[in-house]
Amino acid sequence: MNNIVVTNDGSASIFSTRFGEQYHSKHGAWAESMHVFIKMGLCQKRHLPKLSVFEMGFGSGLNLLLSIKHLPANCHLYYETVEKFPLQSTEYEAFAVHLTSEDQAILKQLHCYDWNRTIDFSAQVQVRKIQTDICHYTPSQTFDIVYYDAFSPRAQPECWEAQIFSGLYDRLADDGILVTYCAKGSVKRLLSKIGFQVRTLPGPPYKREMIQAVK
Ligand SMILES: C[S@@+](CC[C@H](N)C(=O)[O-])C[C@H]1O[C@@H](n2cnc3c(N)ncnc32)[C@H](O)[C@@H]1O
Repeated sequence: MNNIVVTNDGSASIFSTRFGEQYHSKHGAWAESMHVFIKMGLCQKRHLPKLSVFEMGFGSGLNLLLSIKHLPANCHLYYETVEKFPLQSTEYEAFAVHLTSEDQAILKQLHCYDWNRTIDFSAQVQVRKIQTDICHYTPSQTFDIVYYDAFSPRAQPECWEAQIFSGLYDRLADDGILVTYCAKGSVKRLLSKIGFQVRTLPGPPYKREMIQAVK
């Protein structure tokens, strides 16, 4: 059982008892997701009429919720995400309590979707949640953006291996971007070696840096 925690911006996160880490920054879950994944990820591609996003680690569903809410009008979104350890309904319901009632309803709907099926959330948004280990995942198509939201390399070194990032690089569109909250030097060097142009950007509140890697 994971525990719900309230972060410094008042938004909720989850403490993973399995990995001993929080799903989001203690300085603000909402602020971190908005900065790293929406502002430095999704919004960088807002000129495209069709967007495909891959997320490593569906977790609370916050990144998908925010992507739906910040999708430009008339833009079509295909969102594919993998998760090895889906939350129990009691856990995501407790997380959702901290959202507005409109967002609670959306988040619960997203969690209730079957795994391993492509589902129309709306005419604009298609979602495919895949219950698998990132180490066994083969991308089904080309993506414009990758949200890389694993636990830290310290907690989960196996999720930060070259083989995973090479596979994602191969299925990233030209000019496609990978964003992560992690700014570790070893991750930057690994991404550069694979072929990414690595940019170190200012991080979310109280975090100096994050990575945006461009193909
Ligand atoms: C840092 S949390 C972020 C979750 C999510 N993006 C969010 O905002 O709530 C990392 C997520 O990766 C999942 N995860 C851990 N190991 C995994 C693996 N090997 N393959 C796929 N998902 C994994 C965890 O269960 C967790 O949901």
